[in-house]
Amino acid sequence: MAVRSEFSIEGAYKYDSRSVGSWISSHVRRYPRFLLSFYVFFLGAWVCYAGSQVLIGRAADEILDPSRPNGLLIVAAAILAVMVGDAMFSLIGLLSAETLAARFEADARQELYESLLGKSKQFHDRQRAGDIMARATDDTSALASMIVPGGLLATETVLGIVVPLFFIGITRVELLLVPSCFVVLYIITARRYLRRLDPVITAQREQYGKLNAGLEETISGIEVVKASAREPFEREKYRRNARLFRDFFVQQGYIEARYLPLLLYGVTVGLSFMHAMWLYTQGAITLGQVVTVVGLVNVLRFPTFISIFAFSVIQAGTASARRILRIINADTSMDENSVGLSAPMRGEITFESVGFSYSQEDKETRRQGDKEIAGSADTARPDSLSPGLPVSLSASTVLNNLSFHIPAGKTVAIVGQTGSGKSALTQLVNRTYDVEAGRVLIDGVDVREWSLDALRSQIGKIEQDIFLFSRSVGENIAFGAPSATQAEIESAAQAAQAHDFIMGFPEGYATVVGERGTTLSGGQRQRIALARAFLSNPRILILDDSTSAIDSATEDQIQQAIRKAQEGRTVLMITHRLSQIRWADLILVLDAGRLAAAGTHEELLRSSPHYRCVFARYDELELPPLEEIDTVTGASR
Ligand SMILES: Nc1ncnc2c1ncn2[C@@H]1O[C@H](COP(=O)(O)OP(=O)(O)OP(=O)(O)O)[C@@H](O)[C@H]1O
Ligand SMILES: [Mg+2]
Repeated sequence: MAVRSEFSIEGAYKYDSRSVGSWISSHVRRYPRFLLSFYVFFLGAWVCYAGSQVLIGRAADEILDPSRPNGLLIVAAAILAVMVGDAMFSLIGLLSAETLAARFEADARQELYESLLGKSKQFHDRQRAGDIMARATDDTSALASMIVPGGLLATETVLGIVVPLFFIGITRVELLLVPSCFVVLYIITARRYLRRLDPVITAQREQYGKLNAGLEETISGIEVVKASAREPFEREKYRRNARLFRDFFVQQGYIEARYLPLLLYGVTVGLSFMHAMWLYTQGAITLGQVVTVVGLVNVLRFPTFISIFAFSVIQAGTASARRILRIINADTSMDENSVGLSAPMRGEITFESVGFSYSQEDKETRRQGDKEIAGSADTARPDSLSPGLPVSLSASTVLNNLSFHIPAGKTVAIVGQTGSGKSALTQLVNRTYDVEAGRVLIDGVDVREWSLDALRSQIGKIEQDIFLFSRSVGENIAFGAPSATQAEIESAAQAAQAHDFIMGFPEGYATVVGERGTTLSGGQRQRIALARAFLSNPRILILDDSTSAIDSATEDQIQQAIRKAQEGRTVLMITHRLSQIRWADLILVLDAGRLAAAGTHEELLRSSPHYRCVFARYDELELPPLEEIDTVTGASR
């Protein structure tokens, strides 16, 4: 089953992600020419190299018993020719393998990045950025190492064993006895070795992710760390994680040191020599053949030795592939619904008995994860995507049985105590999350029936935590409208009262802001976000506490701008500012995820204890006596 995604690219190359093995193989098979030339040229190189041992044996025979006057010279020239052939073939084979490795790494990184863009907000809520970074950088480069040197050396190992055996066989078939026993024992011990290595390398990769996640968190929160003087604690935490990472390498070293094939190889050399000498004394083979066989058995040393390294690198690549694939295959709750409704929006919003909790997708992804693990022999033990993360902060219902209707073009204020579900409500309108029960309709059509792109591009939103990219101020304002001209950007900034302070920056609109907007004040960030929202000219504008960090004088000006921007569009406004709430057409009062009351300011002041409670701190407000009116239905009690 294809994984759902909120973003996809038409005509993108499809990889087989059913298991780690098929995923790696589908990546490598994308470039059949490089793969073929890698195998063909390496086979050629090994045939030349092992063939040179046969020729060296011939040379020995030629010295002891010359067949013709310039026989030795001919053999010497032949040895030179095959050695040059070996070098040339190796070079071309290596070049093909390197190209294949570099493309695999780049493709996998791109595939991972695109899949991350398509994952739901709920999915990203649970990930640690540092761990994702580790997967996108270190784990993808482990994939390249899996091809070169990993796959390359593994191929050398196989060819370096098979080709000499073939030449030993054609020299004298009985001489295969000892090397064949070696090969059988080699396969058995190598399999045991790999089984022991796998859990250590997998844990090592996971630990690297954790180490990186911790590092990212501390650096992002450096201000808090410094302000709380927690440097010693953070240092110790990092040291513990780094030490654990190192310990896995030491464990790997122990396993590698006990690699039995090297010992077996030593025994094989001795026994093969004895066997060849015995055949020689029986008169069954010539001295030259003894030299050939000893030379060919010597050739086995390199593949035996190098296979320790090759297997470790391949194992690390497989563990990394598993980590990357777990992200790619993680199912999320939504897809882009590109065939859905894609019409200009009027801006009418209806909530019908809406229920919502943040925990719903966790269950779904966990089910999917279990299935993936049960269904694939390649998959690791059932750990979560980012082990150690809180799966959800709140498993309880955030919104409950919420129903209301907002006609197109109206301005609605949403008020309620902190944590009452105001932000959650707005997140359902643009399908950042999906409802658990009931429906959200825009222009009478369920948001799930809309094309996600059409829906989101017509809804502008200023989040509670404003995020700016580390680009120029101008680019940040034009983020939702990349084709906007400089004049349009400036007029949006003027409307949001941002133009003056932007012009005060050394490079004006070209000033690059710090990562996440750290070089700007909270109020400046809010005004840039307002300009961004104005510029994208949405049909529905959602403002989540977007003037909280703005002083009263600027606020008055911004309010005028918002009022102007509000013309002809639906505005959902979360705010604690009485001045803004007053002029809303409708006020929704939320209490613990339920609609406690709805109405205009005057109505609610008279009828809703919750509404009065929200404004209890406005001492200057003269509250009229409380009347008995049901503010949700409008009926008198
Ligand atoms: N990503 C999340 N995952 C799980 N629970 C969450 C998440 N975001 C918010 N919550 C929980 O959902 C509830 C409603 O949160 P919401 O952000 O909608 O409150 P709010 O009314 O906007 O509050 P505030 O006025 O403080 O912004 C809270 O109990 C909060 O703990
Ligand atoms: Mg909020």
